[in-house]
Amino acid sequence: MAHRIAIIAGDGIGTEVMPEGIRALEATAKRFNIELEFTTFEFGSCDYYLEHGKMLPDDWFEQLKGFDALFYGAVGWPDKVPDHISLWGSLLQFRRQFDQYINLRPCKLMPGIKSPLAGREPGDIDFYVVRENTEGEYSSVGGKMFEGTDREVVIQDTVMTRTGVDRVLKYAFELAQTRPRKKLTSATKSNGISITMPYWDERVVEMAKGYPEIAVDKFHIDILTANFVLHPDWFDVVVGSNLFGDILSDLGPACTGTIGIAPSANINPEGHFPSLFEPVHGSAPDIAGKGIANPIGQIWSGAMMLEHLGYKEAGDALVSAIEEVLSAGDSQVLTRDVGGQGTTESLGKAIADAITR
Ligand code: NAI
Ligand code: MG
Repeated sequence: MAHRIAIIAGDGIGTEVMPEGIRALEATAKRFNIELEFTTFEFGSCDYYLEHGKMLPDDWFEQLKGFDALFYGAVGWPDKVPDHISLWGSLLQFRRQFDQYINLRPCKLMPGIKSPLAGREPGDIDFYVVRENTEGEYSSVGGKMFEGTDREVVIQDTVMTRTGVDRVLKYAFELAQTRPRKKLTSATKSNGISITMPYWDERVVEMAKGYPEIAVDKFHIDILTANFVLHPDWFDVVVGSNLFGDILSDLGPACTGTIGIAPSANINPEGHFPSLFEPVHGSAPDIAGKGIANPIGQIWSGAMMLEHLGYKEAGDALVSAIEEVLSAGDSQVLTRDVGGQGTTESLGKAIADAITR
């Protein structure tokens, strides 16, 4: 049976990298005999907002919930629509309503990419950041009192539930189990945040009992960020609460070079709802319309989607095709952000060709 994929290109370079994402997926699907059926939606973009006064139609949930996955480009065009409206009105709705409680980002130094960390080669950096995506520090519990007076007080509570903590830990442990190094690092701050973070640590210890073959360690978030930069080779799977995961999931990919290649997934592991796959980058208004955006972030997100749909071999093959094209280093093919003079299309086509070969 065909897997039904909802395509939402969004704004700016989202509309330029998406066709290359689809090209790569079609080539991979052909080689591995996977049936994919794409349905394109215009909503979730600022142009849709300007026409309809909202980012999504009222029945978006009904329209999308039956899909096997959502493949998103990028959303946002600050000159047309304020960012908090475009982002909250689209992407964040999907993450919440579809209970995509895992945010997953690979941090892998690819061949031909210069790491901002001196002396690091491909193979030195290859880990995942797993971020809790629904609760924790990003809660709406709290309030403001005595506004504008000397007694002004603001409070925002962290919410950690056993269900919420355990399910992200379970996902991270299972991911570690699929990896050769079988190592899990937990981000904490139990020396300063003395109620929720010790609880988080406690649940890690409890969960670890079910995974005796996984080596577990933990660091306080402050030294952990330092170690991402100093010793990226220490890490395999790193799991953190919403806030810590947010920080680590930007820092990790930054240690592996250009933002144009970094992919991400927002996952509902049980498959009760569709998961969402998107590049880390935004709509890049500064280069939009020029055909020079790097499509690899979109294509690699597609590889993550294939893996999520149960085709790990196909996903791995697509990542290998990306590596092959980056290694070849043809400046006529590569985009400017990775040192070439090529276009979105030349790089996308080269990757699709590599997967077909
Ligand atoms: P951005 O990621 O769009 O751009 C940051 C810088 O990286 C720019 O100089 C851009 O040219 C460059 N860049 C980004 N992607 C690239 C690619 N594929 N190839 C080559 N260069 C690339 O972030 P920015 O400028 O802060 O945000 C622009 C808009 O995107 C805003 O409306 C923002 O809200 C939105 N945004 C959306 C995200 C999403 O859809 N998940 C994530 C981040 C930002
Ligand atoms: Mg972030």
